[in-house]
Amino acid sequence: MNEQKPIIAVGLASQEFPMLQDVACRDRNGRPFHYLDSAASALTPESVLRAMDGYYRQYRCNVHRGMYDESARATEEYETARAKVAGLLNATSEEIIFTRGATESLNLVAYKIAPQLGPGDEVVISIMEHHANLVTWQQFAKQYGFKVKFISLKDDFTLDIEEARRLIGPQTKVVSVMQISNALGTVLPLTELRNLARQNGALFVVDAAQSIGHRPVDVKAMDCDFLAFSGHKMYGPTGIGALYGKREQLNALNPFLYGGDMILEVTEEDSKWNELPHKFEAGTPNIAGAIGLGAAVDFVTSIGVENIEKHERTLAREALNRLTTVPGLKIYGPSDEGLDRGGVVSFNVEGIHPHDMTDILGGEGVCTRGGHHCAMPLMRRLGLPGTTRASFGLYNCEKDIEALHSAILKAIKTLKA
Ligand code: ALA
Repeated sequence: MNEQKPIIAVGLASQEFPMLQDVACRDRNGRPFHYLDSAASALTPESVLRAMDGYYRQYRCNVHRGMYDESARATEEYETARAKVAGLLNATSEEIIFTRGATESLNLVAYKIAPQLGPGDEVVISIMEHHANLVTWQQFAKQYGFKVKFISLKDDFTLDIEEARRLIGPQTKVVSVMQISNALGTVLPLTELRNLARQNGALFVVDAAQSIGHRPVDVKAMDCDFLAFSGHKMYGPTGIGALYGKREQLNALNPFLYGGDMILEVTEEDSKWNELPHKFEAGTPNIAGAIGLGAAVDFVTSIGVENIEKHERTLAREALNRLTTVPGLKIYGPSDEGLDRGGVVSFNVEGIHPHDMTDILGGEGVCTRGGHHCAMPLMRRLGLPGTTRASFGLYNCEKDIEALHSAILKAIKTLKA
């Protein structure tokens, strides 16, 4: 009988990535290269590089300004990219604001909403939040006198929804949470959190930095008011991302930054704002970045976001199975049994600092991230200095997991010798 081939023997479309051209998982200089740091930043495929290069070589002009063909083309490609992002999220183009990434998108929301809050009001977030969604509300709370409340997690690393039910009430004005924890891989129960927000008239904000391009995201089904994400975690360029906002929410807000393009008319005394989405895009935008992001949307949709999700899930399962056999190794994140989880596996080995572990793995060509993963309050709550985190992309395969496993054993041997 033929043995069935594991479905992760080959990464999806890995041949599209210049940094992964060598099927033996070696870099251009022949060194081993197992990229397990996609939660920090996913690698870039040829099609994204080509789209950006095409802009710079063929029509590198400004948008919304020039009355000549090349500028018109730049505008067309820029707006087409916006339409692609809108399509990916099931939104309309006017609801998509290009930003520098999830951090700027979350700041935009907090900068515009926080001044409407004051003493007696509360913003509810989870203890797992990335600093981009935590420090922002924390600092504005000091300025405007409202409180930030944290939903904690349970022993199985899932969100404590009972606590969420206790915390979210009429005093809650905003519920702002991540869809998938970048540090643990936990998937948050967005539907229930959204319902709690709605029952109490609070805004519902989602940080989708770890989910976009990794699983289907539908803002209509999610019924969120705002959603933030970065292009570079979904195979797009760095320095570009987007904020989705419901049209009525965006219309109710004043601009974030002032400057060119975001106005309709300016007199010495006052200004009138441009229509959505331009009202929120002051100055010359990251045109190449937006076009590259549009190409990244094409790339992930051509593979199928559901297929990517399935592939990452299989990789995570394989990694959890292998790593739990390592003596002294503890996983920080949901188990694979019966729990939804993302393609992130965080761990520590007893007696070994995560930086030492991550450093040795790096020396073996296994690229992971070690530290607090921009979630210091979470690490403090878990009583940890940090973790080593392996995170998966569509290009990873079994060889990468094998390499991770062997490098961990080598690190243990070296550090405990
Ligand atoms: N937020 C990114 C991470 O999780 C950089 O690594």
